Amino acid sequence: MNLFDVYPLFDVNIVKGKGCHVWDDKGNEYLDLYGGHAVISIGHAHPHYVESISRQVATLGFYSNSVINRLQQQLAERLGKISGYDDYSLFLINSGAEANENALKLASFHTGRTRVISFNKAFHGRTSLAVEATDNPKIIAPINANGHITYLPLNDIEAMQQELAKGDVCAVIIEGIQGVGGIKIPTDSFLQALREACTQYGTVLILDEIQSGYGRTGKFFAHQYSGIRPDIITVAKGIGNGFPMAGVLISPMFKPVYGQLGTTFGGNHLACSAALAVIDVFEQEHLVDNAAKVGAYLLEQLKQVKGIKEVRGKGLMIGLEFEEPIKELRLHLLHEQHVFTGASGTNVLRLLPPLCLSMAEAEEFINRLNKVL
Ligand SMILES: Cc1ncc(COP(=O)(O)O)c(C=O)c1O
Repeated sequence: MNLFDVYPLFDVNIVKGKGCHVWDDKGNEYLDLYGGHAVISIGHAHPHYVESISRQVATLGFYSNSVINRLQQQLAERLGKISGYDDYSLFLINSGAEANENALKLASFHTGRTRVISFNKAFHGRTSLAVEATDNPKIIAPINANGHITYLPLNDIEAMQQELAKGDVCAVIIEGIQGVGGIKIPTDSFLQALREACTQYGTVLILDEIQSGYGRTGKFFAHQYSGIRPDIITVAKGIGNGFPMAGVLISPMFKPVYGQLGTTFGGNHLACSAALAVIDVFEQEHLVDNAAKVGAYLLEQLKQVKGIKEVRGKGLMIGLEFEEPIKELRLHLLHEQHVFTGASGTNVLRLLPPLCLSMAEAEEFINRLNKVL
């Protein structure tokens, strides 16, 4: 059997990782400014993480959601505290798309409505409603094109208010910072006006913090820079440091109904032990503060690098926009300088390193980038 060939691959076989570095099968070391697509939050192969999930899998890897799972309860409590949302409830699933799917379902159960507002260049995942809310016709199959979504320009307060004033909008879904869309940041005033309009018109506000959350921007959630509180927040990627897991943080205005949401694998014992180990390391190593500090340094330094059209971002979620397509630049970085980076569209280099990136590693990245520019 062949693999279903949907990924254009780099010719590199990564076999080992440690902290912000990975190694290929030939023993070459790479600096990881990509974090496996924003997934590696505490660093590769962190000893506490390795120890926690090894112990858990040797004890009990999985049992179903039909029994009490104390690890889920501990996770809800600790995630509530570390994120500033201890009055919200947690529903656990396995991937970002599933988180958004459940968030949108919950909004629709709650309001009885079916229309959703999303934004130009948004990415929310590849399942039914999540992909419909994604502004990329190439990945929306005919079966997903069900006319639920109105796309609006990001940061256009007037357009947003006009649409919500129609009074029939179930939910607005918006990324804390657009990742796939090229590190586009919603302004504080836009998010504040959006919060106000959603409250006024009975629309559920969903913040997709799957890429921008979990400390990446130097606050636990990117939207916390604006001071707003959404009705639902979705998280994934960094929550399990590579163990597949995701969560929906749900405001107290939603009342749970037995059987309305559910999953086989979501919140299993092994996933919870991974997520608890991640929170331990966040607390012990102050990773949110580190993302703010090293991110601010990196942004400052990158603004002085010649040849970049624009540098955007917060914390360790950074986009470098170039006049020219960056395909070759990324290949040079990977094969000549041994640096992994991400991309958004054709012209934006995307940096999403582990949140433990040190000042020295940030400096090393700047040196290597200068060599290929
Ligand atoms: C903002 C955002 N939402 C949703 C998703 C989908 O997450 P997953 O691939 O885990 O389904 C992603 C993944 O890149 C994302 O960046």
